[in-house]
Amino acid sequence: MSRIELIHIDKYFGDNHVLKDLNLTIEDGDFMTLLGPSGCGKTTTLRVISGLEKPQNGRLLIDGHEVINADTAYFEEPGKRGLNLVFQSYALWPHMTVYDNVAFGLKIRKLHHAEVEEQVMKSLTLMRIQELSKRYPNELSGGQQQRVAIARAIASNPKLLLLDEPLSNLDAKLRIDMRAELKRLHRDMGTTIIYVTHDQVEALTMSTRIALFKAGVLSQVDTPMALYMNPIDLTAADFIGNPRINFLHGTAHAESAGLSATCGLGTFAYKKSHLTGEEIPKGEFSCVFGIRPEQVLIETQPEEGLVEADVYASQPAGSETLVTLIAGKQELLSKQLGLIDYEMNQKVYLRLNPDKFNIYNKETGNLIKYAV
Ligand SMILES: Nc1ncnc2c1ncn2[C@@H]1O[C@H](COP(=O)(O)OP(=O)(O)O)[C@@H](O)[C@H]1O
Ligand SMILES: [Mg+2]
Repeated sequence: MSRIELIHIDKYFGDNHVLKDLNLTIEDGDFMTLLGPSGCGKTTTLRVISGLEKPQNGRLLIDGHEVINADTAYFEEPGKRGLNLVFQSYALWPHMTVYDNVAFGLKIRKLHHAEVEEQVMKSLTLMRIQELSKRYPNELSGGQQQRVAIARAIASNPKLLLLDEPLSNLDAKLRIDMRAELKRLHRDMGTTIIYVTHDQVEALTMSTRIALFKAGVLSQVDTPMALYMNPIDLTAADFIGNPRINFLHGTAHAESAGLSATCGLGTFAYKKSHLTGEEIPKGEFSCVFGIRPEQVLIETQPEEGLVEADVYASQPAGSETLVTLIAGKQELLSKQLGLIDYEMNQKVYLRLNPDKFNIYNKETGNLIKYAV
């Protein structure tokens, strides 16, 4: 059981307003990822939750129980919160073996010897480091130390697990394996996890929900799918997705039935049910189309409804091919499954699904038309 509520949290370091009126609820059983570029306040948020930082304003509730109230200067001691943290720098005890590092918290709780051993070996096995149990931290690589730190955190079956960039030191292959392990761990233990990363792939692949930060403010809290399909503003759209989403500039105006929007690919009409409810400017206004590379399908033969384009360059990379195209004087990137090679300057024909486009108000940057 662990439900975390951050209510109107402000955190300053001197004049630096790092968390700005932060409101976020993490439901029991969530795998909530705090995502955003470096310096946007993710670690600070985690440190506030764990009790390592005191906010100047706001309240923090764990399972409805108030642990911080800045107004009345109430702070419950971190030790009483039943949390477990794994930080980017993992602070293992240098004079203890891997086994003892992981066992330490369990021994303090005076668990039976056999029970400790079982828990420790289970955690080490899950992190695939059981054969390292007798080594000391200085005999391990950074990635191995990171896995020991995760094993230590999960060994005690915490009700809440806080992980700060725990996979940052792992190589690409191991990172994929560990993502799978963490995801299973979350399901098997039913623990609430709060996970910090600047890596949008980690966030998309593991989380039940993602809180996207932009300079101390939350710009969007959503499921990975919703965040990917409908980023709420241009900054969020730019941050989520690799390769990056295509931005095509155009113009739009309201119509009685909804919205009409034009870019180099054509003019598209949208019903009111496609619109987000964001205020639509009067008259013609500048807009930005957001089109995911995998939504741009390439055909080599013309057909009614297809949009003509020229191949600027193609990059076949085994399982997928990236193709840079020029259509209506605008450049856009297409991602095709499989190995396909196109000639430079080859004429091709794009199959597009306008319902899947995101359309933003250029001036405010806000989403006005959903992808459906
Ligand atoms: N102990 C501290 N003292 C002063 N400034 C800090 C401290 N911790 C973090 N900051 C500042 O707060 C901002 C957010 O930092 P942080 O939460 O670590 O970002 P993130 O984890 O998203 O990279 C940064 O500008 C950072 O320099
Ligand atoms: Mg950080």
